[in-house]
Amino acid sequence: MTFWDYGNQDPTLAHFFNDAMASDARLISSLVIDECKRVFQGVDSLVDIGGGTGTVAKSIADAFLLHFPHMKCTVLDLPHVVADLKGSKNLEYVAGDMFEAVPAADAIFLKWILHDWSDEECVKILERCKEAITREGKKGKVIIVDMTVENKNTDKESGETQLFFDMLMMVLATGKERNEKEWAKLFSDAGFSNYKITPCLGLRSLIEVYP
Ligand SMILES: C[S@@+](CC[C@H](N)C(=O)[O-])C[C@H]1O[C@@H](n2cnc3c(N)ncnc32)[C@H](O)[C@@H]1O
Repeated sequence: MTFWDYGNQDPTLAHFFNDAMASDARLISSLVIDECKRVFQGVDSLVDIGGGTGTVAKSIADAFLLHFPHMKCTVLDLPHVVADLKGSKNLEYVAGDMFEAVPAADAIFLKWILHDWSDEECVKILERCKEAITREGKKGKVIIVDMTVENKNTDKESGETQLFFDMLMMVLATGKERNEKEWAKLFSDAGFSNYKITPCLGLRSLIEVYP
């Protein structure tokens, strides 16, 4: 069975994994909020796909309440991850499958999702995301937090760490870490027309993708 199905059968593992993700999400949220505020300008609705227990979405919803008071955040994750979680005024949890459907939004956030999946699976997820941001005649964007490997400016130690992640994704899931050319192909195969990579999050980059 897949790692995600196994999590559904073993609550101890699922709890452990979700806590580990929340720990990383705390670190990344503060960086994203401090360094990348401009990315959220004009975004009234944001869906965090595979957002786990909602650490990033909660931080974004709280931090931007002052700057962007109309912003509504939604966390979409598997039923066993979000079943018992309660939302708030501007945060909602939705149980679902990102391969089936994604709620409509101005922006879709994907942190540490696409590196879990093969190219074919990523294209399916991205197609669902494109449908979600272009519904109702709108043209939103997808915001990805993931690694971009083989970057000339990456030092040796960081490059090695990225390669360890590449092996981990190969062993644990069906995924891999990608270089810019591989990212560009995914975006084009899923029907997107443009993207911008900003390597501002340590080993990871913030990637904006446009329909
Ligand atoms: C590596 S974790 C990342 C969690 C979170 N985005 C973060 O970075 O803290 C991947 C997440 O994808 C979720 N997931 C896996 N398959 C999914 C599916 N088919 N639909 C929605 N979420 C899924 C998992 O439950 C897990 O929360």
